[in-house]
Formats: sequence, structure tokens, C-alpha cells
Amino acid sequence: RKMRKKIVAGNWKMNENLQEGIALAKEINEACAADKPNCGVIVCTPFIHLAKVAEVLDQNFVALGAENCADKEKGAYTGEVSAAMVKSTGAQYVILGHSERRQYYHETAEILKEKVQLALANGLKVIFCCGETLEEREANKQNEVVKAELDGSVFNLSAEEWKNIVLAYEPIWAIGTGKTATSDQAEEMLAYIRSIVAEKYGKEAAEDTTILYGGSCKPGNAKELFAKPDIDGGLIGGASLKCADFKAIIDAWK
Ligand code: G3P
Repeated sequence: RKMRKKIVAGNWKMNENLQEGIALAKEINEACAADKPNCGVIVCTPFIHLAKVAEVLDQNFVALGAENCADKEKGAYTGEVSAAMVKSTGAQYVILGHSERRQYYHETAEILKEKVQLALANGLKVIFCCGETLEEREANKQNEVVKAELDGSVFNLSAEEWKNIVLAYEPIWAIGTGKTATSDQAEEMLAYIRSIVAEKYGKEAAEDTTILYGGSCKPGNAKELFAKPDIDGGLIGGASLKCADFKAIIDAWK
């Protein structure tokens, strides 16, 4: 059961200055070096941390990722950071489609489709997020919302490209709220997501796709979430900023 890659990924969001970020990355690296994880571990940091954090991580067991990249290749786009720039820091992953980017920075399905293409074209793996609002869940629209998000930005990819996609389901009502989806709610959605991946890319590809749950995942609930057949790990916000908590979530795979 669950032969596919399991992952615990941290999303630092807009937290930690450079010195704090380096210290946190070092601590996580040391904790994982001393007690090897049973899953893939990724830390996704703000852009300015990437190059320095790359120097303190042993990416054989703690991989580096960014939280975003531009929807343009290069040129006169003041303030933007391209996928090629992210890749050149040593990062291997990029989070795209996070609800905070969609909500606060107006990233549409079309923009995200461009970002995904550029990330893959530049050799990055993509952690692509999807998830519904509370209102949409209360109207029982969560499946159609999630399907539309995937249809709009990643279901256009080739089978070959799909191999570099990790999905993360993050119900917006559970992000940073302390309100976790129950493990049954999370499992139900992840099984649904796997079924639509199977329709698109076939059963085998769907079986191989890593799908994460995100939203108030903590040491206290990680084990129960990860025990579910379709949950392949977590995308962790708040709890990824404390090494002990993050490591405890990683250890939920033991
Ligand atoms: O991307 C991770 C995230 O949105 C979940 O955040 O703080 O609820 O773990 P948090």
C-alpha cells in the first residue's frame, strides 16, 4: 500500500528574516541528519532565503523549494523572480496555486497555467495547490471547485510532465485557522482528486501521484491524517516554522 513517494513539505510563507531562516533550515537539516526521515522532506522558503538555505541543506534528505515564481520567462518585469532564477539557487521545487496567491495576488487559472509550464520547463517540480472556501464547501461545491482548479492549470500537461507534479489539497477554511479537515474529509477529497487524475492520466499515473493535505496539520493530527490510504503527506504552514513540530510531523511517517 502507498508505494508512491510520501512527502512532508514546509511552506514558510512570509515569515523569518534571512538569519532566522538560515538558522531554522540548519536546525531542520541537523534533525533530519541525526534521525533520517521515512519520507521526502521539503522546505519552501521566501525567494531571498533560497541561495543561502541551499548551502546549509543536504538535499539528499531535505530538498529546497520556492513559494512562487513568475508567469513570464525573463525581462522587464520589475520585482518578479523567474523559474530559471529559482532553479539557479539550487531549489528543486516550487509551490504554485496556493490559495493565498489566488486570493490576495489575484492569480487566475490562466496565470497559474503559465507558471506551471515555466517551472517545469526550467526543471523544477511543482507542488500545485487546490482547495475550496468555506462557502463553497457549505454549498457542497468542493469537488467541482477543485476539479476546475486542476482543469484550468495542470490537466493540460503531458503524461511526461505530470511526473513532476505533486498535488496539495488545502481547504481554505482550514489554513491557519486551527480548524483541520477531519481525516475523513481530507481522505474523501484526496480519493476524489486521485480519481480525476486517473480519468486524465490513467490509473497507474494516478497511483503514482503524490497528493498532500494542507491546513492546520500539526504533530497532534499528522499520524491520523497520514494513515489514510490516499493521503501521501502534508503541506505545513505554521508548524513548519518550529523545527521540533516540523520534525514531529515528519516522524508521523515512522
Ligand atoms: O501551505 C500550507 C498551508 O497553507 C497550511 O498552513 O498554517 O494551516 O499549516 P497552516
